[in-house]
Amino acid sequence: MKKTSYYTIITGASSGIGLALANEFAKNGHNLILVARREELLKEISAQISLKNKVSVEYIVADLTKPSDMVNLQSELQKKDYKINILVNNAGFGLVGEFSELELKVQQDMIDLNIKALVDLSYYFARQFKNQGFGWIMNVSSVVGFLPGPYMAVYYASKNFVTSFSLALAQELKQYNIVVTSLCPGYTDTKFQETSGMDKLSKFGKSNFVATTEQVAQSGYQGLIERSELITIPGFGNKLMLWLIKFVPVRIKLALVDYLQNSKTATPNSH
Ligand SMILES: NC(=O)c1ccc[n+]([C@@H]2O[C@H](COP(=O)([O-])OP(=O)(O)OC[C@H]3O[C@@H](n4cnc5c(N)ncnc54)[C@H](OP(=O)(O)O)[C@@H]3O)[C@@H](O)[C@H]2O)c1
Repeated sequence: MKKTSYYTIITGASSGIGLALANEFAKNGHNLILVARREELLKEISAQISLKNKVSVEYIVADLTKPSDMVNLQSELQKKDYKINILVNNAGFGLVGEFSELELKVQQDMIDLNIKALVDLSYYFARQFKNQGFGWIMNVSSVVGFLPGPYMAVYYASKNFVTSFSLALAQELKQYNIVVTSLCPGYTDTKFQETSGMDKLSKFGKSNFVATTEQVAQSGYQGLIERSELITIPGFGNKLMLWLIKFVPVRIKLALVDYLQNSKTATPNSH
């Protein structure tokens, strides 16, 4: 792949898995456009990654739940006329709690970020990549994208959407030389646990399957760029868990996730 003049755009690149993906892509010689809300952080990270890897790193500040910021993002990309060959839809958040007790607005924001922004950017870049004759799209889903999620209902459902949507896109776009991979990490050590309330309310963190962001990013990069996978599941433990869970009846899955989520409600607006 010729990388020098093209850019990889990564959403949610100011921390966690997105930041690790930015480092992984830069390490492999890709120029970057980083997107998130925290400008100071983006500025600092861009300078560090650029210096370390001798690649060009730009950033655009955007709250992807806001339609006006989505419009600004697209016009900024057009204005600067970047040549982009890889889209990484990574920005996302979750919240633990009973659906009908959590604030509706926060759950709507979750849908706007985890689903709507991802769909909008996939649409925008799918058309661009078709015109240029090639491209790569990584949509960050989760192992929970294969499960129903009591006490984190909207989050699990959003990741079910991301996985299903990405599989369909992969099939539609392969004729245009565009690869689409759904990256499905398990529990990974990031700010996500604190933002979602999982660190205090869920039993997931006590498992032995906690991955580092670097492990997830390396798996994701290889899955998308080197292996053109439909679905990338980092870690043997997660792969085994998802294989075994296929044989478990839905009522048992529901009871299991209910137990693991601990059935309590996180403080809304923590995202
Ligand atoms: N950690 C896990 O265990 C785990 C497991 C499976 C899947 N995932 C998925 O991995 C992805 C990354 O999560 P993470 O674990 O790395 O969490 P994180 O450390 O909290 O990172 C989330 C990123 O998304 C950005 N973001 C949040 N809201 C945004 C908004 N409205 N507009 C633009 N950017 C926004 C944040 O930046 P700003 O705050 O600067 O905007 C941050 O860069 C998510 O899609 C998550 O669902 C995580």
